Amino acid sequence: MQKILILDFGGQYNRLIARRVRENHVYCEVHPWSMPLEEIRSYDPIGIIFTGGPQSVYDPTAPHVDPRIFSLGVPILGICYGCQLLAQELGGRVSPAQSDTAREYGKTTVRFDLSCPLFSGLPEESVVWMSHGDYIACLPEGFSLSAESAACPSAAVCDEARGFYGVQFHPEVNHTEYGRAILKNFLFLICKAAGDWTIEDFRRRSVEEIREKVDDGRVLLALSGGVDSSVAAALLSEAVGDRLICVFVDHGLLRENEAEEVVNAFADRSLRLIRVDAEERFLSWLSGISEPEQKRKIIGEEFIRVFEEEARKIGAVDFLAQGTIYPDVIESGAGSAAVIKSHHNVGGLPDIVEFREILEPLRMLFKDEVRELGLSLSLPESLVMRQPFPGPGLAIRIIGEVTREKLNILRRADAIFREEMLRNGLSRSCSQYFAALTNMHSVGVMGDARSYDCAVALRAVTTEDFMTADWARLPFDLLDRVSNRIVNEVPGVNRVFYDITGKPPATVEYE
Ligand code: XMP
Repeated sequence: MQKILILDFGGQYNRLIARRVRENHVYCEVHPWSMPLEEIRSYDPIGIIFTGGPQSVYDPTAPHVDPRIFSLGVPILGICYGCQLLAQELGGRVSPAQSDTAREYGKTTVRFDLSCPLFSGLPEESVVWMSHGDYIACLPEGFSLSAESAACPSAAVCDEARGFYGVQFHPEVNHTEYGRAILKNFLFLICKAAGDWTIEDFRRRSVEEIREKVDDGRVLLALSGGVDSSVAAALLSEAVGDRLICVFVDHGLLRENEAEEVVNAFADRSLRLIRVDAEERFLSWLSGISEPEQKRKIIGEEFIRVFEEEARKIGAVDFLAQGTIYPDVIESGAGSAAVIKSHHNVGGLPDIVEFREILEPLRMLFKDEVRELGLSLSLPESLVMRQPFPGPGLAIRIIGEVTREKLNILRRADAIFREEMLRNGLSRSCSQYFAALTNMHSVGVMGDARSYDCAVALRAVTTEDFMTADWARLPFDLLDRVSNRIVNEVPGVNRVFYDITGKPPATVEYE
């Protein structure tokens, strides 16, 4: 299999580079810049990309590469910091920009040398995204300039004979008009990629690898009903059949018909699926609790307890499987950002179950690839294309104490909202949408009688990464229909709000 290696120097857009490469059906992996040369050799890439990074290459603590990497005979593309590193390591000189004008940040017009294969087929001039305070002041031997901007003569450099290319700008971001074409040129013209990597390929290889590894062992997986753990279950069951044991903890905080949908999706597969109906337990622990973090903690801990009890009944297993996906892998260990909400996933399980090894069959896939794999494994589209749903479920969409009655109200209201979005072809127009139950009661009038009922909030957002989000501009007609249906069909609700707050300052979920 042809592979591109992305060496990570700490830039903000590294994940995006990997996305862009995979979009071209070329397999790639992101590894730390410190990857030893021997490992690079055995990874056997057809091309290497050095990413951007926050440091200056001349800082004493700046990350470097083993210089022998340049003798592997493999084409290299350096982006931003990676471009400067390439130049410096090969004998050039990188300097701080001499004036404020040479320090480029934002959209910048660049002129390309179209005879350089990296820019083949591009217009002579276009807009790129710059973000640099240093520049290549002196080229290494064998290099020539291949793009320039008004402020920076070395917007791109190359040594075609050795297959080394550097761009000072970021081809991976959308602001660079021909960024995709530039990366394509690197992959296909320079690295001679075939672009034949497919999800079917991945599936075949994974199944073989899992079979080889698991042999006649037993695998345990906590199935949450989310996309990742469901696809992991389907893949593992294809590989090991009934030696896969899935524990599905139904905490009673799922959406309408969700638990049945999950169980049905796996009904005719050979795996063992244990459904634990734990609604009673979760609700009694949550009784009287209204503080959001306390709710999250209780649910997270109780989840582990229930899983642990089931695992004890099953006995020792050889492998514990998790639905970890590539963004989790790339981001793990990143930064020490303030905890806004303590996310509940199936974290922490490895300590409590006796097993030999962890299996993470999706750890190299992006979310859309996981979805594609799910479809290829014949999981229903309704499950595979599911929008994100938080581990603590509806509990964090009910402001204040969670009760069975409130859950029933919310489930119905949420189902109506989802039904109408689907019916009107809007379900793919936003990244996430749902109903929440506020803790507000207000006076209304229904059928000539006074009511004093609760208010439902509708939330719909668009976002690329869920770190920030905008509220979706849903059509008024649709909101009108949803509101009418909710107050008419859901007893106990007499008012519906539409949330028009972005993130920040709000978060997507209510708690
Ligand atoms: P917030 O509310 O933090 O949500 O803006 C951002 C995204 O994360 C999802 N979310 C969670 N996902 N466990 C999860 O697996 C959680 O505890 C959790 N809390 C929020 C949320 O649905 C949104 O997509």
